[in-house]
Amino acid sequence: SNLPIQIKVVILGDSGVGKSSIILRFVYDDFKGETDSTIGAAYKGKVYQHNNCNIQFNIWDTAGQEKFKSLAKMYYRDATAAILVYDITNSQTYDGLKEWYRELKEFGPEDIILCIAGNKEDLVDSESVQLDTVEEFAESIGAYYKRTSAKTNYGIDMIFKEIANKVCAD
Ligand code: GTP
Ligand code: MG
Repeated sequence: SNLPIQIKVVILGDSGVGKSSIILRFVYDDFKGETDSTIGAAYKGKVYQHNNCNIQFNIWDTAGQEKFKSLAKMYYRDATAAILVYDITNSQTYDGLKEWYRELKEFGPEDIILCIAGNKEDLVDSESVQLDTVEEFAESIGAYYKRTSAKTNYGIDMIFKEIANKVCAD
C-alpha cells in the first residue's frame, strides 16, 4: 500500500551536543546558532521517501539535562531506532554517550537500530575524541557511525537513510 511505514526514532545524548539542531536541520533544513535547551522532550514528524519505501519518521527529541534523564525511558522503550549523539569537540559527551548506550542495552528494545552521530563536524579542527576509538566502539555494538554537522548539514541525511535502509530491507 502507499501508507507510510511508521518508524519511531529517539535521539539521545548530553545537553548541548546538538540533538535538537540535528532534528531542526533534518525536518526543516534550518539551523540556529542559539537554541533553547529542550525541556522534557519534543516530537517532530517527517515523511521520507527511500527508494520505493514510504516512511514516516516519528522523532522524539529528548532533553539532555541531567534532571530530565529519567524521562528518556518513555521515549526509547518502544523505539525502532536510536540516534546517540556526542559533540566531537567535547570528550565528556562521548563518555555520556557510552552511558546512554549502557542504559539502552539494559532497558531498551533488544532489536533497536543504533546510530552514533559525532556532531559539530564543522569544528573538526578541535576534535577531541579519537576517530578510531569511536569507530571501534560503534563496530563492537553494531551501530552505524557518522560524523554530522547540523550547522552545515554534513552527514545528517546519511543517518536517516541508514535507518530507512534497515527498516525497508525487512
Ligand atoms: P539539550 O536540549 O539541552 O539536550 O541540547 P541539544 O543536544 O538539543 O543541543 P542544541 O541542538 O540545543 O545545540 C546546542 C548548541 O550547539 C547550540 O548553540 C547550537 O547552535 C550548537 N550546535 C548544534 N549543532 C551544531 C553543529 O553541528 N555545529 C556547531 N558549530 N554548533 C552546533
Ligand atoms: Mg535539545
